[in-house]
Amino acid sequence: MDDSMTTREAKVFHDRMLSLGLARVSEAAALAAARLIGRGDEKAADQAAVDAMRQQLNRLDIDGVVVIGEGERDEAPMLYIGEKVGTGEGPAVDIALDPLEGTTLTAKDMPNALAVIAMAPRGSLLHAPDVYMDKLAIGPGYPEDVISLEMPAAERVKALARARACASSDITVCILERPRHEDLIAEVRSTGAAIRLITDGDVAGVIHCAEAARTGIDMYMGLGGAPEGVLAAAALRCMGGQMWGRLTFRNEDEIGRARRAGIDDLDRIYCRDEMVTTDVIFACTGVTDGSILPGVRREPGWLTTDTLLMRSKTGSGRRISYRTPAP
Ligand code: FBP
Repeated sequence: MDDSMTTREAKVFHDRMLSLGLARVSEAAALAAARLIGRGDEKAADQAAVDAMRQQLNRLDIDGVVVIGEGERDEAPMLYIGEKVGTGEGPAVDIALDPLEGTTLTAKDMPNALAVIAMAPRGSLLHAPDVYMDKLAIGPGYPEDVISLEMPAAERVKALARARACASSDITVCILERPRHEDLIAEVRSTGAAIRLITDGDVAGVIHCAEAARTGIDMYMGLGGAPEGVLAAAALRCMGGQMWGRLTFRNEDEIGRARRAGIDDLDRIYCRDEMVTTDVIFACTGVTDGSILPGVRREPGWLTTDTLLMRSKTGSGRRISYRTPAP
């Protein structure tokens, strides 16, 4: 437990009702975004999720600060980095959130859009700036450091195959489909491994590794948003699995963002537990159907959501189905 927490605060942080409250927050964001699934309007979907998440978050008895949010204060009017959230009455916590992870997925009604939030004791989440992060993740059950970010991509596939006592062709790697990943994709394919290309949503991409039997994905690699990297690390801390990330910068402005976030060592490789250093509670609700969670379901007069709520302290995961009258 983080030293900044008093014993009473720590007790409240681990109160199960507080974690259930977090599920309500991601449910609210997913329900709000659901009205805009398949409507071709990314911005409106995101805004609806942001408004609903903020409103619900502010009902929680926490003294929260957004450390991973919608952007820096001058760019985002709500849920910006540094915004205080909650009633101020409870434990001091860091909040990482993405009210709508997969705005384009939602606008186009494509799979795996999620509403995501994580909460941890104050000071325990990496303040990742809005730059890219080179990410690598695998699920639980492998020896420590069986792969690394320093290894070439083909070596990672081969090392994972050796650890699983299978052929490289039995490994499936998830990668964001982007021009910047052309060489990476070619290198992974050269090993005979399969690649699941995703158009967006790498928080889900990483989480998929932790449930390889369900999703068919063994490893995640490539460059995606650094804030999403911290959210994914929070999920893996609850589910088990290894993850590494290194910030990458395209220009001086991005380096400035990192420096403002207090990052001095720009080349550092962060492992999962350096991105999320203590106990964390993680909730995500499906917006569109996905491999981990179904999306929001509509039937006349009703809406139903499914949420995955996890606590790293206990390693427990709860799937919560919530049915509510449609507004
Ligand atoms: P949005 O929900 O903001 O659209 O982002 C989705 C996402 O695909 C993330 O999952 C991923 O980390 C990032 O965008 C990748 O960024 P880019 O589209 O610039 O490659």
